[in-house]
Amino acid sequence: MGNSQSVDTPRHASLPTINSRDHTGSPTRIPRSISSHTSSKSSSTFSKFSSVRRLSADTVPSTTIHPLQQSSKHLSPYNLSAETSRRTSSSSSRRPSPNPSLVALNSPSPEPEKYVWVAGRRFHNVEGSEYLYPCDEEEIDRLHVMHFMVRFAIQGNYLAPVSDSLRNGAAVLDVACGPGSWSMEIAGEYPKSELVGIDMTSMFPSEIKPPNCQFIRANITQPLPFDDGSFDYVFMRFVNMGIEVEQWDTVIRELVRVAKPGAWIELVEGDVERYRVGPCIKDFDTKLAEVLRGRNLDPFASRNLDKLLIKHGLINVKRTFISSPAGEWAGKLGQLTLQSWKANFEALKPQLCLAWNISEEQYQALTSACLSEADIHKSYENIHFAYGQKKPAQRD
Ligand SMILES: C[S@@+](CC[C@H](N)C(=O)[O-])C[C@H]1O[C@@H](n2cnc3c(N)ncnc32)[C@H](O)[C@@H]1O
Repeated sequence: MGNSQSVDTPRHASLPTINSRDHTGSPTRIPRSISSHTSSKSSSTFSKFSSVRRLSADTVPSTTIHPLQQSSKHLSPYNLSAETSRRTSSSSSRRPSPNPSLVALNSPSPEPEKYVWVAGRRFHNVEGSEYLYPCDEEEIDRLHVMHFMVRFAIQGNYLAPVSDSLRNGAAVLDVACGPGSWSMEIAGEYPKSELVGIDMTSMFPSEIKPPNCQFIRANITQPLPFDDGSFDYVFMRFVNMGIEVEQWDTVIRELVRVAKPGAWIELVEGDVERYRVGPCIKDFDTKLAEVLRGRNLDPFASRNLDKLLIKHGLINVKRTFISSPAGEWAGKLGQLTLQSWKANFEALKPQLCLAWNISEEQYQALTSACLSEADIHKSYENIHFAYGQKKPAQRD
């Protein structure tokens, strides 16, 4: 994956066309470990999920959004959508039992999970991983917000032409699933399908989840614990900060291997560079890109997803992107996007304070200025999608 630049035409009707620009800069390496700890189990995943409140296109409040801060004892932990829940429970008796052949037949028992703490946030301690986001309850909240934002922006959960397959019952792999928001919604909406989510940290729920949804801890830069041709649909979203430049080919090769002939693979990635920005955001994004390059991560991997799929032999490859505006000026999506940016700033704080050698107060001042710029400049970010199909099996 190179850093080839694309000219991104915003998809939002009210946004003007702008050109992307070059980034240069010297690499910065972040010290990661301040203190470490080992745990055999994820933190209180259940309690976190029980505080998840539904946020959908219909229910996004028009003022401040705090979708995840209000507890609802009445919602099941995977109940991100009341509609989803209704369908899940009403159809559970008709649902086939989970397909054991999908589940990590080849996987060894996972090692106990190890963590490091930096400035009060919990991080993974996976050897060799440069992923720089935390893996704690606050991060689960952030990832839910991001999930709601994308779902709102595309008015759905995917773009690949897989609706019929999901409705009829598909084996689906959610790669680097995080807390599993996407998997659990798809599982609830398509009760005949079987979902398997994998991630190197167990932010996903271990017990309270739809019956057709399973989660496994696995490192996607290693061989995946599934047989060849196991899945009808493979989905991977927002993992570019965890895949080093030369690992992309290994990861995609594995996704193609575990996909059935004719299966669809869909990749979704955000762009580190935001658009129509003020000086603070511009500076932040430029410096963040330098940090990522210093970790051998490609800040602009999102722009080459289609090329990657073609390179690995997929056919019918399509790409698109959406522009997600941030700020009150842009209505509900603007509020969600701004909330996502705010949570993203918070999540990056421990590592970026170290990388930039600044205090938390200085970082706070910088990111507050960034957030206030969004409304002034009507800023937005682009999210890139690419999907393609593994060649169907040859008929004799
Ligand atoms: C930004 S989150 C995205 C979560 C989810 N895909 C979503 O869209 O909501 C990125 C996830 O990638 C996971 N990740 C990063 N590097 C990984 C690796 N090498 N193997 C497995 N998971 C990884 C992280 O643990 C984190 O949960």
